[in-house]
Amino acid sequence: MKPLVLISPGTINVPEDVSRTLKDVAEVAYLKGDLEEHIAEASALLVGMERIDAEFLAKAPKLGIAARFGVGYDNVDVEACTARKVYATHTPDVLSGGVADHTWALILGFMRRIPKADTHARTEWAKRERSLPFGWDMEGKVLGILGLGRIGSEVLKRSQGFGVETIYNDLIEKTGLEKRYGVKRVDYDTLLRTSDILTVHVPLTPLTRRMIGAEELGKMKPSAVLVNTSRGPVIDEKALTEALKRKQIRGAALDVFEEEPTPLDNPLLGLDNVVVTPHAASATWETRRKMAETAVANIRAYLEGRRPPNLVPEQEGAEF
Ligand code: 8YV
Repeated sequence: MKPLVLISPGTINVPEDVSRTLKDVAEVAYLKGDLEEHIAEASALLVGMERIDAEFLAKAPKLGIAARFGVGYDNVDVEACTARKVYATHTPDVLSGGVADHTWALILGFMRRIPKADTHARTEWAKRERSLPFGWDMEGKVLGILGLGRIGSEVLKRSQGFGVETIYNDLIEKTGLEKRYGVKRVDYDTLLRTSDILTVHVPLTPLTRRMIGAEELGKMKPSAVLVNTSRGPVIDEKALTEALKRKQIRGAALDVFEEEPTPLDNPLLGLDNVVVTPHAASATWETRRKMAETAVANIRAYLEGRRPPNLVPEQEGAEF
């Protein structure tokens, strides 16, 4: 019998013509229902945002690879995978451009008040009762990038032409990007105090969890806009809601939330100075397809006894 590959994201994310390419080496099944109930027989898992930890792995005795459909892998306990000799892979690079595009859509969506202007054009314009919702120019603003990695650097690349000054904070000095794009490295405090638009591109780790809370928001300019397409828990959502209610900062443009899907009664959703999208920064036909192809290539390598090409960094030296 061929090994079973279980695919958790639906066919809109992992198209059948992509998953079908595994059929010469595996049985392929899309998950229907609860993952924990169906994992026992699977040798490989193509996984979305479900938590993969020791408790889960105990229910998956045949599993040899957890292939994330995405670049972030904060939902995967890599130590637990390594202890069980389960490969953990992800899909770096292929989504960086798409996520950077969406980051800019959020920045411009907020600055030019696109959601409000759209509603105005559909429901109020013809009545001539209210003035247009005015926005703000990009030119002359300071764009601060927290985390100048794969996605942050694509956001930087796309900033050329908007007339913004660019600064960044990262653990690593990016001299190549500094030379090429004139971006300036600053300490975290300066990034918070100087940015008109602060865009977050760090992975979620114990170090980055809630790295933007009440204290950090208190340092930001009243004109600042906070943009997040990374992970919700990097920002203390309660503190952000308070800061936005008090107009301590100008606004926020968010694709990610502490809890997802974000509950309908999340007070953030009721605020006028917030633009939101439903964790959709990588949701384009092209990008999701590339993510599916990458995850499938990782699974194929494992099934053929090769080293998966996109092991998460913590497993790069591992040999199972
Ligand atoms: C996806 C993401 O929406 O790449 C990531 O880490 O968060 C997004 O691209 C997500 O992975 C879908 O499972």
